[in-house]
Amino acid sequence: MVDLGSHEVTKPPRSEQAFEDYPTLGALVTRAQATWRESCDRLPLVRRRLWRALVRAGALKERALGTLMPSRMRFVHFDWPLRPEVCPCDVHCCEYLAERDIRGRSVFHFGTGGHHVVGITNRDRGLDNEILGITASPPEHSRYVRLVIRSPSLGKHYKVLFADIYDLGNAGLPTFDLVTLFHLCEFSSPADPRRRMDDAGVLDLFLSKLSPGGRILFYRGSFGYQAATPLIERAVGGGKMSFVECYKSLDVYQVPERNPHRR
Ligand SMILES: C[S@@+](CC[C@H](N)C(=O)[O-])C[C@H]1O[C@@H](n2cnc3c(N)ncnc32)[C@H](O)[C@@H]1O
Repeated sequence: MVDLGSHEVTKPPRSEQAFEDYPTLGALVTRAQATWRESCDRLPLVRRRLWRALVRAGALKERALGTLMPSRMRFVHFDWPLRPEVCPCDVHCCEYLAERDIRGRSVFHFGTGGHHVVGITNRDRGLDNEILGITASPPEHSRYVRLVIRSPSLGKHYKVLFADIYDLGNAGLPTFDLVTLFHLCEFSSPADPRRRMDDAGVLDLFLSKLSPGGRILFYRGSFGYQAATPLIERAVGGGKMSFVECYKSLDVYQVPERNPHRR
């Protein structure tokens, strides 16, 4: 089991470093944040409610701005915290990598969360997988930038792209040994003409980017899983991938040793 206890991943460190960086105002802000978080830690229910209220307020704001400026990018406005009891896919991914001793491989990870636990655990366990994560959330991406500035060792094997996965292209991506598509069909709107592809396109693209025998992981607990199932079945029926195993909340598939769909 991956020890997640040591990862204060949802909280930026309230270290003395912050006091050194910003001696006056920074110290006050850091202390206020620390006090706030400590009281929130004692009151998880309050924290959850407040988080939900902030998410709702953010969604309203984005909807209003989207109406005023239809060309505006649709992004994820919230910073997703590590909540394995609600959404265990990233924790299970960490455990899968560790238990299957997957090291030094090229990994694509859809949906980093603000906790960045997949990258952090990869670093802390010394697995040295080359992980490319993607997020469509500005605060999650900013958190990554802050974490790497504070601890450059994280950035050695973990890079995070701020982009819409539906706008990726074949020529811009390397080959991967393992791909996670945990949030396939969660954030798609079927008729969005601005996007380069739909969910079926995302699945096809990443199947084509897998090395021979490479693995692709889906999350059964995703609210998009029902919509993703026919896409998964079609890919299996078409010989593009085959089922390997259920690992906790994840389904693991594999492309053929000779991947005829590789681009
Ligand atoms: C519900 S959060 C889950 C985060 C993490 N996998 C976890 O389980 O804790 C969904 C994640 O998917 C990312 N995401 C959602 N839509 C996206 C899109 N269109 N392109 C790239 N990332 C996206 C969000 O930025 C966020 O990191």
